[in-house]
Amino acid sequence: MGIKKTCLPAGREKIFIFDTTLRDGEQAPGASLTSIQKLEIAYQLENLGVDVIEAGFPVASPDDFKAVSNISSKIKKSSVCGLARCTKKDIETAAKSLKKAKKPRIHIFLATSGIHLKYKFKKAEEEILALTKKYTKLARNYCPDIEFSPEDATRSSKDFLYQIIEAAISCGAKTINIPDTVGYSYPQEITSLISDIKNNVSNINKAIISIHCHDDLGMATANSLAALSAGARQAHCTINGIGERAGNASLEEVVMAIKTRKDVFSDFKLDINSKEITRISRLVSNLTGFTIAPNKSIVGRNAFAHEAGIHQDAVLKKRSTYEIMNPKDVGLGKSQLVLGKHSGRHALAKRLKKLGFVFEKKKNDLLFKKFKSLADKKKEVFDEDLIALAEEETKPRIQAYKLVSVAINTGKNLPQASVKIRYKRKILKEKAFGDGPVDSCYKAIDKITGVKAKLLNYKLDAVTRGKDAQGRAKVELKIKGKLIVGRGSSTDILEASVKAYLDAINRAV
Ligand code: KIV
Ligand code: ZN
Repeated sequence: MGIKKTCLPAGREKIFIFDTTLRDGEQAPGASLTSIQKLEIAYQLENLGVDVIEAGFPVASPDDFKAVSNISSKIKKSSVCGLARCTKKDIETAAKSLKKAKKPRIHIFLATSGIHLKYKFKKAEEEILALTKKYTKLARNYCPDIEFSPEDATRSSKDFLYQIIEAAISCGAKTINIPDTVGYSYPQEITSLISDIKNNVSNINKAIISIHCHDDLGMATANSLAALSAGARQAHCTINGIGERAGNASLEEVVMAIKTRKDVFSDFKLDINSKEITRISRLVSNLTGFTIAPNKSIVGRNAFAHEAGIHQDAVLKKRSTYEIMNPKDVGLGKSQLVLGKHSGRHALAKRLKKLGFVFEKKKNDLLFKKFKSLADKKKEVFDEDLIALAEEETKPRIQAYKLVSVAINTGKNLPQASVKIRYKRKILKEKAFGDGPVDSCYKAIDKITGVKAKLLNYKLDAVTRGKDAQGRAKVELKIKGKLIVGRGSSTDILEASVKAYLDAINRAV
């Protein structure tokens, strides 16, 4: 990877992990999360040990504001951060949303590259410098912990960047984050940029340098590590690498690279409990509806699987022949047959907690009923089944449309669906023909709801193996120009498909 140990400063130094799954991660097209789901992820991020949770962009929407304030009032160990542009309204809204936070941070950003100044702002460098000073001071009045990001830093003129950073630090910024906003840089450039900042910004020792990499060219993790090796002490990451466009540096990759290559990163100290990685990765995947590619590093289904006979044989003789990490270190255990129809509610709640789901009593009771009926239908209930059940419960609380029943009539011609839905205490029924059973159901639902939805993608997976496996459906719909993802699971694949469609419609309405 070209990182030399000699680049590192002497002594073990803390590397701060700034997680932006709930902000940049949620900016991934189709990845919208409710404020309840965000809180659930925040609890898991805290368990994982991240230093900072960027909980959202409070001015962006009332739901974002609510998510940041909910998280602020509940999270105690990690700092909670809200994003703001350099405007009075953004900063005041962020400050308000962070009022209850034990350790609040406001993250302000302002673009500094020539292309952004010319086309986005139509402003001269002096104006950007003045705005940096004015709004860093304003943010500092509201919050002791300010992070400043010169957006598109890697495409900015270095001399201008030095001036901006110096001004932000002298006006109160404690962290200077360097975003590779469009994922354009390669590792050697990042190394030089961080070194140049250290050598050319007079007050840089009063701030922590941070790095924020996007993955447009697949170099986000390598670039983040290059920055840390050159002296940055904070990395922005997201779980599963989700984020705007091609995503952000993935937390699990950055963390496991540092932990696995202790020979290279021996001077770094991380406070991350890597055994929580698999659990949070699954939680984020389930809640966002973004399935993880099987070959995704660290958290993909195949990341620790060995197919070739030669590999299997060697791993049995000595695991490290083909495994550079121990799966246990990322919390990966074999899928277990954990519960059966005789298991009690306490055992279920305990197992769910271990899988990352904590519910209040009423929901636990409801889940217990659903679990019993699943255990009646399925011979074996695996962790993945429980995750699918729990995932159904983490959907938006207000579900305007709820499925009552679905039936298909397949005659000689096209299949006809009869769908019954509960809406505001009324039962609405419709029938429709379609190109297949799923299509006919969706047409019937369209008639009932009157929502104009365009189906862009449909995917059905088996949650576990075997012919009694639950099906998990995922749909991507375009509703009023917005991409909305819906998920649903059931032992009946048609029901799973209908639930997924209704989930997306409920999110939209
Ligand atoms: O990519 C980016 O530049 C950002 C900033 C808001 C830090 O996400
Ligand atoms: Zn970003």
